[in-house]
Amino acid sequence: MADKKILINIFHPRMEQSRGNKAMMDAAKELPNVTVRNLYEEYPDFKIDVAKEQKLLLENDVIVFQHPLFWLSSPALLKEWQDTVLEKGFAFPPGQGDKLAGKIWQTAVTAGGPTEGYTKEGPFQADFEDILIPFRLTATYSSMQWQPAFAICSVMAEDDQWMRAITAEELDAEAARYKALLQSF
Ligand SMILES: Cc1cc2nc3c(=O)[nH]c(=O)nc-3n(C[C@H](O)[C@H](O)[C@H](O)COP(=O)(O)O)c2cc1C
Repeated sequence: MADKKILINIFHPRMEQSRGNKAMMDAAKELPNVTVRNLYEEYPDFKIDVAKEQKLLLENDVIVFQHPLFWLSSPALLKEWQDTVLEKGFAFPPGQGDKLAGKIWQTAVTAGGPTEGYTKEGPFQADFEDILIPFRLTATYSSMQWQPAFAICSVMAEDDQWMRAITAEELDAEAARYKALLQSF
């Protein structure tokens, strides 16, 4: 097993109602080299402790941004986190603010929509790599290494009548796939 230090910053405003992010969080917590945090619990008022966040970034090699897909993006606190934590001179410009240089940026999302919804042939004519372009460019402008996004689709309540939801067994398998990804770093 690799020994990189992994920080998982979870951005989920209603973790107590979560299926997907909860399963991912529980799987990640089984690994000794992983620090898992729920930023909405830490900053319910959106007042982010920038120095604390930057210190955590410096102490870790792999930074995972885990969140549900909200309107083809992230919950709002991740945007606030980016706007405050990725300061000039710390995260950018390349060659000057390069404290994060070489660290890995791994986005991990859950989506209510089905897998086929996130293909070039789907309703958005876009896959996850397209949808997440602002995050990829933020990573590269911060001199970090973007990894292809990890995604779990069809994450809804099991009794949802709208679309077929992922079953408990399928979600277990997806959480194991997430854990294996983390172990691969
Ligand atoms: C405000 C809001 C916006 C959402 N936007 C999307 C979306 O753009 N695409 C999608 O597939 N699911 C969307 N969803 C569904 C969530 O992605 C889904 O509920 C979540 O990934 C489930 O994860 P959880 O079990 O950890 O809560 C949205 C949900 C909310 C509440």
